[in-house]
Amino acid sequence: MNEQYGRYTVITGASAGIGAAAARAFAARGHSLVLIARRTARLETLRDEIHAAYPSLDIIIKTVDLSVTNSVLQVYDEVKDLPIGTWINNAGFGSYGTIGAQDLSKIRQMIHLNIETLTILSNLFVRDFADAEGAQLINISSVGGYLIVPSVVTYCATKFYVSAFTEGLAHELAARGAKLRAKLLAPAATQTEFGAVANDNPAYDYDKAFGTYHTSAQMAEFLLALYDSDAVLGIVDRETLAFRLCAGQLPYAGGSARNQKVSD
Ligand SMILES: NC(=O)c1ccc[n+]([C@@H]2O[C@H](COP(=O)([O-])OP(=O)(O)OC[C@H]3O[C@@H](n4cnc5c(N)ncnc54)[C@H](OP(=O)(O)O)[C@@H]3O)[C@@H](O)[C@H]2O)c1
Repeated sequence: MNEQYGRYTVITGASAGIGAAAARAFAARGHSLVLIARRTARLETLRDEIHAAYPSLDIIIKTVDLSVTNSVLQVYDEVKDLPIGTWINNAGFGSYGTIGAQDLSKIRQMIHLNIETLTILSNLFVRDFADAEGAQLINISSVGGYLIVPSVVTYCATKFYVSAFTEGLAHELAARGAKLRAKLLAPAATQTEFGAVANDNPAYDYDKAFGTYHTSAQMAEFLLALYDSDAVLGIVDRETLAFRLCAGQLPYAGGSARNQKVSD
């Protein structure tokens, strides 16, 4: 089991779903928290709930729209001097619809949040915490980051990016002997607000849409199993819903003689 380097776990998208469940799960492990999302009231309710159960923990909430780059940079600056052990880039959303018939404003925001914000925050955390003993960066991808799912191709493409970026980062960190570990979680259908947001349907029903799915609390348990492991990837099998921990799954050209020679 990994020793936690610092006292704080930062979770983006902590006001609902997997992020809120992860907050409860990491608090139960004794981690203080920085919880980031747009809905202040949700964050306050979660903070008060966790604080009542674990009064010794420090629970910091940050109301931030992470699709605004300046706000992303600002919130990182506000928290970077805390003793952070784990950073979880969880904030993200999906959008159903065929290409050509999509709401361009929505998919631009999705690409910005799922790709650009995750990349910026990952870069900043690696810059500052690469040599921190026990530090972990966990990015939330999806089984849709390893498999193209019909009617949700653009979202899957954003998650393919998350998978490639994070697996590549894990290779880079290992190659340079960094202490920081980069990992990623790839959930399948999980009952959260994801379905309502992705389909613009507040009455979205996971029983009708999928029949079987995980709860966000189950996904948080998988996240803890990934955190405790030396695996790079924790992925759910979309057909059986079985969870497994494994090495990265994407092809990697490390060690190839065809790679660019680096000149001094
Ligand atoms: N549920 C699934 O079936 C499933 C499957 C595979 C992968 N995932 C991934 O799991 C992650 C968590 O999703 P979820 O299922 O827990 O969905 P969710 O219940 O809709 O939660 C999404 C979280 O992201 C936050 N968020 C959204 N836009 C934001 C923004 N612009 N700025 C800051 N925070 C923002 C939301 O908070 P506010 O609205 O308060 O900002 C919320 O806390 C996502 O990356 C998603 O792609 C989910």
